Formats: sequence, C-alpha cells, structure tokens
Amino acid sequence: MTPLQPPVYALLLGLFLASLPATSSRRFRIPPHDQVARVARFVAHQVDWASMATISTHKPVVGQPFSNAFSMSDGPEGSSSGVPYMYLTRMEISVQDLEVNPQASLSMSLAQTDYCRQQGFDPQSPLCAHIILSGSVMEVNGTEAEFAKKALFTRHPEMIDWPTDHNWFFAKFNITQVWVLDYFGGVKTVTPEEYFQAEPYRKHH
Ligand SMILES: *[C@@H]1O[C@H](CO)[C@@H](O)[C@H](O)[C@H]1NC(C)=O
Ligand SMILES: *[C@@H]1O[C@H](CO)[C@@H](O)[C@H](O)[C@H]1NC(C)=O
Repeated sequence: MTPLQPPVYALLLGLFLASLPATSSRRFRIPPHDQVARVARFVAHQVDWASMATISTHKPVVGQPFSNAFSMSDGPEGSSSGVPYMYLTRMEISVQDLEVNPQASLSMSLAQTDYCRQQGFDPQSPLCAHIILSGSVMEVNGTEAEFAKKALFTRHPEMIDWPTDHNWFFAKFNITQVWVLDYFGGVKTVTPEEYFQAEPYRKHH
C-alpha cells in the first residue's frame, strides 16, 4: 500500500468530516418551504422551549393574553413525535391560568437555534421559520407520561433535580391548528392530521 498523497488524504478527511456531524447537519436541513407540515414538524423538534400564551387569571391583566417561556420537547433528539410535552407545576403562574382555561397558544421559532443568525434571517422574517400552535394543555398519564419524561429529561437534564415538593407533572399541548410562517405570502395553516403524518426529516439510507 502506498502512503496516501495529500490531496487524497484531504479528500478522505473531507468525506470523514462530512459524515461525522451527521446528526447536527441533518438537524439544520430544513424541509422545502412548500412542504409546510414538514417544516412545522421540523421547527417543533428543533426547539427546546416555546413561548406559551394563556388567558390570564391574575390581576391586573385578568382576561388578557399572557405569554411565558416553557421548556418543551416533542421527543428525544432524532425521535420526534410532534407532540409538545412540558413539565409543569400548579405553583406556576401560567399553569394557574390553564387550570381555569386550558386553551393556549405556543409559538416556536428557528430564531431559537443558530440557524437564522447563520443564514442572516431576522427573527420576524418568514424565512426564519416559525410556527404557532393553537390548542389546549392536558396532563398526561401512563405510557404517554413515560414518553414525555424521556422526551423532556434527555433534552433538559436539569429537570431531574427540580424540587419534588413542587408536584411536577407531565403535560402535552393538544394541537387543534398549526400556523406556519416559513416563506413570503402570508401564514399557512396545517391540520393536526397533516402535521402528525409529516416526516420532519428526510429518510436517510
Ligand atoms: C391523568 O391523571 C390526572 C390525575 O389523576 C387526571 O386528573 C387527568 O385527567 C388524567 N389525564 C388523562 C389524559 O387521563
Ligand atoms: C384535542 O385536539 C383534537 C384535534 O387534534 C380535538 O379534536 C380535541 O377535541 C382536543 N381535545 C381537547 C380535550 O381539547
């Protein structure tokens, strides 16, 4: 065997490096903007948190929208369910709103990742893909709570040590409508059925 010549070596190294960050490069390969449901699933799986708006029950803004940040996960990295899961306590201000009215809205944006900054997309630009979910928040039990735990604790390991006297529980966002801003021409809507059928990632061989 002859020693590798520098250009060959560089080529092999390049191939090696290209294959190495398979997970992270796949992470940021956003689906084509006209495959709206896939874009929505992609955004929902990329982000680690969402802004959740509830209808406030707290003075002096009773009845007004109240938006707050929540850690979420739709599944461990690489296994997206599309369902946003959260780890909540009834001591929390927005969760107190949900006890009165479980209807809420979640917004998630690729501005929460490095993608938009790297592409030079302003967070308000539709090219910096973002989605809004309408629906309600429900506690989950049994096997679904087991999945929620795995989804959340793998991506938010600090949660494991959150104080037990807060009576944390697992919840999901039950989606009734998905709104997608991923290109010019206004908002597009996706039904929950279309959303859950979509594949966030291209199948790899
Ligand atoms: C889960 O259990 C809680 C407490 O027992 C209950 O209030 C809630 O309705 C249950 N949720 C589901 C989806 O079964
Ligand atoms: C959950 O969402 C579905 C639509 O995906 C809707 O038909 C159903 O009524 C919702 N359930 C609750 C409890 O809001």
